[in-house]
Amino acid sequence: HGTRLDVETHIIAASVTSVQNLIKCVRGTGIEVEDLVLKPLASAEAVLTPEEMEAGVIMADIGGDTTDIAVLRQGAIYHTAIIPAAGCQVTGDISIGLALPFKIAEEMKKKYGNVTPSLELDEAAQVEEDGHSASCRDLCQIIRSRIEELFELILLEIPTTDYRSLAPAGLVLTGGTANLTGLVELGRSVLRMPVRKGQPLSANIYGVTDVLADPAFATTVGLILPQTRNREEG
Ligand SMILES: Nc1ncnc2c1ncn2[C@@H]1O[C@H](COP(=O)(O)OP(=O)(O)O)[C@@H](O)[C@H]1O
Ligand SMILES: [Mg+2]
Repeated sequence: HGTRLDVETHIIAASVTSVQNLIKCVRGTGIEVEDLVLKPLASAEAVLTPEEMEAGVIMADIGGDTTDIAVLRQGAIYHTAIIPAAGCQVTGDISIGLALPFKIAEEMKKKYGNVTPSLELDEAAQVEEDGHSASCRDLCQIIRSRIEELFELILLEIPTTDYRSLAPAGLVLTGGTANLTGLVELGRSVLRMPVRKGQPLSANIYGVTDVLADPAFATTVGLILPQTRNREEG
């Protein structure tokens, strides 16, 4: 017989109190909790292709308050991390920098935000929302600085600097902030690796419409995908 048995595992730890409180809150709404899934893993499930997961890929779900990272290799989880910075911090900086209410800053970011590296904006160009106006150039510059910083933070979370060997398939960006115009181009230019936008592969779910193809639904689709698969098999 053999003398050695090795196993490589990925352990996800969480504060028991936080998890129990979360479950209590969900049960309070009358919904039973079937399972707990770490957010980056659900999002990865929804937006990555089997080829990417086999080759090696970094997935970053840039949502409202957190950026959720998953690195997959040889079809398995290699690393996960959560950065407490995402879209809301971008809006917060616009709000402070341009002296605008948060809600107006959020709308302007979504409507006029553009981080395309080659974009040249006229100094005089103004954007308007609900009676508030701001310089389009200032708006885009604030968003761009914050996003560039976020890209740096993503790289710092990756357990090696040899990104090319770790993740030949590059970086897949998803989450609501992946809708930002020019994000993929900026990522390619700052990170110098293949970057694509990840949309939930909702075509696999029977009866689900194109509405869920928005990157903002990556986590949600990732949570229901295994359920639909089990149903097909069983
Ligand atoms: N078109 C857009 N441009 C820039 N940011 C966007 C756009 N659409 C949504 N967002 C941002 O996406 C974030 C929400 O992402 P989402 O994945 O829904 O959040 P979470 O998963 O954290 O609940 C918000 O900060 C919002 O401003
Ligand atoms: Mg999300």
